[in-house]
Amino acid sequence: MDEQILRNLLTLESEKSIGKVQIFDEIDSTNSESLRQIQSGNIENRVVVASSQTAGRGRRGRQWLSPKNAGIYLSLTRRFSMEANALQALSLVTAISVVEALYQLGAQGLQLKWPNDVLFEKKKLAGILLELQHKENSRFVVFGIGVNIELSADLLDSIDRPVTDLDSIMNEPPSRVILLAALLNQLCRNLEKYEGSGFSSFEERWNGLDCYRMNDIEIQNGISRLIGKSLGVDSDGSLLLQTPKGIQLINGGEVFPSLYPLSE
Ligand code: BTN
Repeated sequence: MDEQILRNLLTLESEKSIGKVQIFDEIDSTNSESLRQIQSGNIENRVVVASSQTAGRGRRGRQWLSPKNAGIYLSLTRRFSMEANALQALSLVTAISVVEALYQLGAQGLQLKWPNDVLFEKKKLAGILLELQHKENSRFVVFGIGVNIELSADLLDSIDRPVTDLDSIMNEPPSRVILLAALLNQLCRNLEKYEGSGFSSFEERWNGLDCYRMNDIEIQNGISRLIGKSLGVDSDGSLLLQTPKGIQLINGGEVFPSLYPLSE
């Protein structure tokens, strides 16, 4: 991938805010590299992108398989002045940005699963891993984004969850550089908006895209399980769960469709 081609596709706004761009053919993990850069005192905003990752990381300690050119493997580092608890809403904003970027490029029918999975027909198309790092009295957020572009049949078989790729859902998937630029442009635009007015301006957008809203779900968090009806998110990005004990605010865990519907 050519940095100049990428820069030519960026809006003025994102060109100003992304800072350094580092392009790797292969790396362990773009998130790990971004964290290492912060640790070594290189604290300017930065984009790290790789054609392949040998130790791509997903949420909850899972691995993110990242063969060469089969997807976008991207990390954006930005300094933030907000509290650490704003991170959850940031990850929702990132997921919305991924959907909006893909819509601009012609994808259709995408949905979100709280807190930040991008799905097509309940199959995972993109994943997001946000990591927070403190250095020199500042907070830095690494926005890690993985989008499946073209996964081989072998890879699809090796993943124990339903996954899909752009090649299966679009007539002509965009090139990696066009997709990368669209993701960065949309993310930078939405982060500016979020810094100005918080999550409330994204609440309706999220709820319109949430595939489990008004459905019975189960939230798994470690060994705890909660079953209820999802009411979507509130203006902070917390998930609202209608349970027999009333509405509970959920701030962590993983959502699954409930195997035992409540409403029958
Ligand atoms: C998930 O589990 O859904 C999150 C997956 C995040 C994967 C991306 S790929 C680029 C960045 N580098 C990583 O090691 N992980 C994230």
